[in-house]
Amino acid sequence: MITKPKGTYDILPNESRSWSKLEDTIRKICKLYNYKEIRTPIFESFNVFHRDANDTSDMVTKETYDFKDRGDRMITLRPEGTAGVARAFIENKLYVENPVNKLFYMGPMFRYERPQKGRNRQFNQFGVEALGSSSPLIDAEVIALGASLIRSLGLKDVKVKINTLGDEESRKAYRDVLVKHFEAHKDELCGDCLNRLEKNPLRILDCKVDRHKEFFNDAPKIKDYLNDASKDHFNKVLKALDDMQLQYEIDDNLVRGLDYYSHTVFELEVNVPEFGAQNVIGAGGRYDGLISQLDGPKTPGVGMAFGLERLLLAASLSGKALVKPDSIHVYFIALGERAQAECIKQANICRIGGLACDMDYLGRGIKAQFKDADKNNARFTCILGDNELDEFKINIKDNETDEQETISLYDVYPYVINKLNKSALGACASCKDRKEE
Ligand code: HAM
Repeated sequence: MITKPKGTYDILPNESRSWSKLEDTIRKICKLYNYKEIRTPIFESFNVFHRDANDTSDMVTKETYDFKDRGDRMITLRPEGTAGVARAFIENKLYVENPVNKLFYMGPMFRYERPQKGRNRQFNQFGVEALGSSSPLIDAEVIALGASLIRSLGLKDVKVKINTLGDEESRKAYRDVLVKHFEAHKDELCGDCLNRLEKNPLRILDCKVDRHKEFFNDAPKIKDYLNDASKDHFNKVLKALDDMQLQYEIDDNLVRGLDYYSHTVFELEVNVPEFGAQNVIGAGGRYDGLISQLDGPKTPGVGMAFGLERLLLAASLSGKALVKPDSIHVYFIALGERAQAECIKQANICRIGGLACDMDYLGRGIKAQFKDADKNNARFTCILGDNELDEFKINIKDNETDEQETISLYDVYPYVINKLNKSALGACASCKDRKEE
């Protein structure tokens, strides 16, 4: 048997409705915040992600799927959405029409990571990118959008952690003292951090290996090295969050795993024990240098991405089912070949009229067909045998009220619609489900 590649998974029919529901919720929220969808390729030129030889992020140095295509071009499967969106922004000159572009995307990303609960090699992200404004208010808007999504999904125990990396000048001042501090502990640093010490010492703060060592506690903090402009930017982000009554926690050691960030960085963390180690469901920050690094016009940017698998896991752990069990309007039970031929006709009439229908295609007995109707949560069951057919009649049962009637064969559609309309004013489960979804 050929099996799926390690770190991938199938979304099976009983799960796919939760995915659709999540995607619908995301689209609704993006509409509220006026973010417009952008769809970029799943593979990009290698250089979109491998921009800087000094990049120390695990994602770029260890985790990308890189290959040569048959035309000898270096290609990378996208490990994240931001760089591809930045490439598309530049190539399509989106800045010409709109000074600020607020964009969102959803789709698969690829990282060669060690698979574990909540960490896959192919996973899905929903992300937003706001390009063109350096206002701290838009940093806060992005976080507010994330908070709205969390609220809509009914997620519990989600914490927003936030920090600033300041502007280039602040980071340079901080970098110098940080290098001095960690150089004194060079012997205790892990191999990756020794490399980071030269290339990007801030990333040492993010190290999962060294983070718990004692010399970490008295490492200098970026907040003490921010220039006035950086302090002002961060304070304005915090004030806007306060004004919107959004809760957050400042985390001095938060630097994020990607190298393109400046100023605001943040992570949204779920704190329930069943979630496991991969408890960051979404994260982002400002990246004012990325567009020019990709040879675009100097353009500030801020964004965030959520892992959809982690959002769904968080939703299920919060005990809030995203969707009700699937259901159909009518199941046709046919007794015999002639009845079967008539049932497919009737089912088609109903389907054209907008009713979800199904029937048996295995020639099963009446008992098995009733079982199948039940399994499909049919609101109505129609039963047709030769006798009824000869009289142009059909038996119909309302499974919600247990009412059973014999009606004209040609009345199935109006009969069901009439009943549904009546109960839709009340509470027909199958119609309500469909309306809500
Ligand atoms: P990131 O922190 O690398 O940021 O990924 C964002 C989210 O994607 C994570 O918080 C997590 O929920 C999910 N995720 C990442 N890797 C995996 C994986 N292997 N398996 C399952 N889920 C995963 C970014 O990607 C940035 N582009 C975010 C951003 C947008 N910053 C600015 N704009």
